Amino acid sequence: MADRPYTLLSCGMSIDGYLDSADVARLRLSNDADFERVDAVRAGCDAIAVGAATVRNDNPRLLVRSAERRAQRVARGLPPSPLKVTVTRCGDLDPEAEFFRAGEAPKIVYCPAPVAARVRARLGEVATVVCSGPDVDMRTVCEDLSARGVNRLMVEGGGTLHTQFLTADLADELQLVVAPFFVGDSRARRFVGDGRYPWTAERRAPLAEVRQIGDVVLLRYALSRRFGEE
Ligand SMILES: NC(=O)c1ccc[n+]([C@@H]2O[C@H](COP(=O)([O-])OP(=O)(O)OC[C@H]3O[C@@H](n4cnc5c(N)ncnc54)[C@H](OP(=O)(O)O)[C@@H]3O)[C@@H](O)[C@H]2O)c1
Repeated sequence: MADRPYTLLSCGMSIDGYLDSADVARLRLSNDADFERVDAVRAGCDAIAVGAATVRNDNPRLLVRSAERRAQRVARGLPPSPLKVTVTRCGDLDPEAEFFRAGEAPKIVYCPAPVAARVRARLGEVATVVCSGPDVDMRTVCEDLSARGVNRLMVEGGGTLHTQFLTADLADELQLVVAPFFVGDSRARRFVGDGRYPWTAERRAPLAEVRQIGDVVLLRYALSRRFGEE
């Protein structure tokens, strides 16, 4: 088994590169046909990761919605939906959040050692809490997930997580959906933050696919030699 899972970053953004709006609780960037596509991608993964801010702001369920896809997973000996993963430094996560309540698959929370006892006291009944040193490093998270049998990881945001996976060169694939409108408010969260990215003007990311899905467009970038691995 590889030392880290095949890692696919999935993101919807506005034309001006925002993931959300500063005012609306949860901004709908995509359309129904694309949500359906994302559901199929989810169903093909072993784990889905989001940052703690996304758990707090969006309260996502992160389940496979299609009954047929859930049944197919169960027939393959898998839980109906992938394992859920989040990371936190402050540990301010509600055990009643949908992330923890929805679905039968295990949930894993990675946090730094100094807060591990507090996070375990808060979330230990609804999740496995893994402390990974003085801070959480995404490579360590990937290696730990690999050791737990995760071969395919989908990272669904937010921007802080995408930034860390991309700058650490841990992404094999980026699926970026561009929604047909502008947010135009720098208080909103961008797709990524500042950092040194492996993909620059001199080293351009290979564009593997462009697909129109109704009024949005999917851009698929091949970010490693593993791109396209099943
Ligand atoms: N358009 C899309 O596709 C999409 C998808 C997902 C989310 N979003 C939007 O993105 C926004 C959130 O994005 P975001 O960038 O602010 O946050 P995020 O990436 O969802 O989460 C950031 C949080 O994750 C934890 N974290 C991140 N790196 C860590 C590390 N190395 N070690 C330990 N903990 C770590 C911290 O949690 P603590 O604060 O708990 O310490 C941090 O505040 C939401 O508004 C959501 O709507 C959009």
